[in-house]
Amino acid sequence: MLMDNKNMLSGKKILIMGVANQRSIAWAIAKAYASAGAELAFSYQNGRFKGKVEKLVESEMPGSLLVPCDVTDDGDIENLASILQNKWGTLHGIVHSMAYAKKEELEGMFVNTSREGFLLAQNISAYSLTAVSKLLYPLMKEGGSIITLTFQGSERVVPNYNVMGVAKASLEASVRYLASDLGSMGIRVNAVSAGPIRTLSAKGVKNFNRLLEGVEEKTPLRRLAGVEEVADTALFLASDLSSALTGTILYADCGYHIMGA
Ligand SMILES: NC(=O)c1ccc[n+]([C@@H]2O[C@H](COP(=O)([O-])OP(=O)(O)OC[C@H]3O[C@@H](n4cnc5c(N)ncnc54)[C@H](O)[C@@H]3O)[C@@H](O)[C@H]2O)c1
Repeated sequence: MLMDNKNMLSGKKILIMGVANQRSIAWAIAKAYASAGAELAFSYQNGRFKGKVEKLVESEMPGSLLVPCDVTDDGDIENLASILQNKWGTLHGIVHSMAYAKKEELEGMFVNTSREGFLLAQNISAYSLTAVSKLLYPLMKEGGSIITLTFQGSERVVPNYNVMGVAKASLEASVRYLASDLGSMGIRVNAVSAGPIRTLSAKGVKNFNRLLEGVEEKTPLRRLAGVEEVADTALFLASDLSSALTGTILYADCGYHIMGA
């Protein structure tokens, strides 16, 4: 966290989805939210991530709720909703920080994308925002803020990002439709478009290091956005400071998205 934002989220109960390890963007967001006074719950994909996430959360935010939830499984999302209903009753925020595409779809020509790979990327990386919102918005009885993470590859061609770029375009359109549906209930839906950051998922994109170098050279600020800066943007979107923002994509990318060639 770059500034002293103590109490910015005090009294707010927020679900963080998508911590895999200490490098995850979701983890940086969780740390920013915890420092701002939020009470947090975490969902993780499955048993493969359980130990790591438990250890991280226990060391820095002991006592937080931890629930397994594979977002391709409606039963898992129903279970998550019922646990949050029983433990908290009211929810004020969701951070959706999850995506997946097969490694072989994140290299070479987009034209070679398989039907199965396309649908898998859409299911996990885009549809899951709607699936989760559908079952959790009823808990946002006092209004709330739903935030997802996206990337510039949704609007422009980024080599090797391929099927994930198309999934992010779908995710961003979902943000707008969900914002329109849920606005009358005081629920805001927004996305943070982060610049490239070295994480577990990013490793799946071929030549990711080359992408980092290219972006760093081109950004107006002449540097890459740090994960804490992305987290601070998510903090703003969860807080009442952004109360008039919904359906927006905020770019935490040191200005990369405005550049042409
Ligand atoms: N790293 C970057 O450069 C970058 C840039 C912009 C946007 N993003 C986005 O940020 C988000 C978080 O990614 P990250 O970079 O922190 O990587 P990460 O690997 O740390 O996080 C991705 C998360 O998605 C989860 N996930 C995948 N399939 C799932 C499923 N079926 N059910 C539940 N969870 C599932 C993984 O368990 C993991 O926790 C993603 O949406 C990613 O596209 C990343």
